[in-house]
Amino acid sequence: MKQDLKFLRHIPTDFLWGAASAAYQVEGAYNIDGKDVSIWDEWTKLPGKTFQNTNGDIATDHYHRYKEDVGLMKEMGLKTYRFSISWTRILNGTEINPKGILFYHNLIDECLKHGIEPMVTLYHWDLPKRLQDQYGGWLSDQIVDDFVAYAKVCFDEYHTKVKKWIVINEPNIFTHQGYELGVHPPGHKDKTDEYLKAFHHTALAHAKTVNLYKSGSYEKGMIGSSIALTPGFSQTDSPKDLEATKRYMDLNFYWFTDIYYKGTYPKWAFEYYQNNNLIKFSISDDQKMMLTQAAKEVDFIGINYYQSTMIAHNPLDGVGQVLFNTDGKKTSFVESGIPGVYKNVENPNVTYTNWNWVVDPDGLKETLKVLTKRYHLPIIISENGLGAFDEIEDGAIHDDYRIDFIYKHIKALAQSIQEGSDVLAYCVWSFTDLLSWLNGYQKRYGFVHIDFESPNLTRRKKDSFYWYQHLIQYAQNKKQD
Ligand code: BG6
Repeated sequence: MKQDLKFLRHIPTDFLWGAASAAYQVEGAYNIDGKDVSIWDEWTKLPGKTFQNTNGDIATDHYHRYKEDVGLMKEMGLKTYRFSISWTRILNGTEINPKGILFYHNLIDECLKHGIEPMVTLYHWDLPKRLQDQYGGWLSDQIVDDFVAYAKVCFDEYHTKVKKWIVINEPNIFTHQGYELGVHPPGHKDKTDEYLKAFHHTALAHAKTVNLYKSGSYEKGMIGSSIALTPGFSQTDSPKDLEATKRYMDLNFYWFTDIYYKGTYPKWAFEYYQNNNLIKFSISDDQKMMLTQAAKEVDFIGINYYQSTMIAHNPLDGVGQVLFNTDGKKTSFVESGIPGVYKNVENPNVTYTNWNWVVDPDGLKETLKVLTKRYHLPIIISENGLGAFDEIEDGAIHDDYRIDFIYKHIKALAQSIQEGSDVLAYCVWSFTDLLSWLNGYQKRYGFVHIDFESPNLTRRKKDSFYWYQHLIQYAQNKKQD
């Protein structure tokens, strides 16, 4: 596939070309070396909660094979590897687990040895089960101090080696899925007030952690959190659709980014939730200060971008929420939304994946544009990628659909840089194939194929591996062919 890569000249030479993973989705080794139990260890064992009851007990066995994986990253020429630390490997209650601490030292050292910058996420959804049982996890404000205590252990331990910290991954997704859709632990459904409360506690935990990092005697590094952002485009220019889109953006975009990056919630959305009696938390003056202080000190906005959505007016007797496709059997589009507020409609200008996700590089451009305009902060794209079925043909995986997806998104990001966005890094989700939380092992995202059927968990480089390798080399040398 011959592609024009000249646009890469708009991307700075020190740009961090990366790929990502998360502890529960790759590590395996779920019950050894002193690891405590997380809510995902428990959730995946409850029948019917995940696709074909898949779990991360073994996953890709990254815990034991990290050297092989980092070796492949070096071969690829990766500049940064984003991974998460598992809270339950580091702490068993309040006891520090030396073997867990050592594992991440080893992983970080292995990256550094090969010139790969570790980008560390502190929380990618694997809450200690004991905190869920003790006080309801994210539903209680007790979580804030426990989270900060855990973060402190990580900063104390790794601050000389790690210079990019992502405090929380997609706080909007795990709270929405855990309390609104009921498909993530703890599985509460239609509890909008709980979703908002749990999300609010993530914002407090993020803010307190940022403030701790900035005020502690740590080596200088950068800190932020990563939010999943799905920008909405209005279906038409009619005032009704435009109004619905504004409401969608306030409730599903700025609600998350404002509290993390301004320290306040958007006014209309707050009143909307309040009028519907859904705000069951209060914000003290101290907390307000903490939130605005963190918003001033935070170094970057982390975003995970997968898709956009098209929005239209939804009448009062219109559509409500629907569950999403977890089996990869593409269905015709099903509208969803909040009656009287907005609805998501089919976009005729884009394609859809087998899991009905929208493919839309323009959505990435739009996201970068609005974030830059509103917050004036550097941005790290901590996830972007395509989940697909991959076939092995004569030992090779010809994933040109993935190459096409990534190529178009990188092109969009280069245009955004040209238009003034300060983007520091781009991490493809994911480096190797891994466990997709609800979609099992058949939804593959990696540059490296993993044979989950074989006891060796054989790694195979896909075509996209060689393609990204070439792109990184090209971007660095700025070849003008
Ligand atoms: C993000 C998460 O939501 O999207 C990842 O941070 C996740 O952990 C990725 O795997 C892709 O989602 P899915 O549901 O296709 O695995």
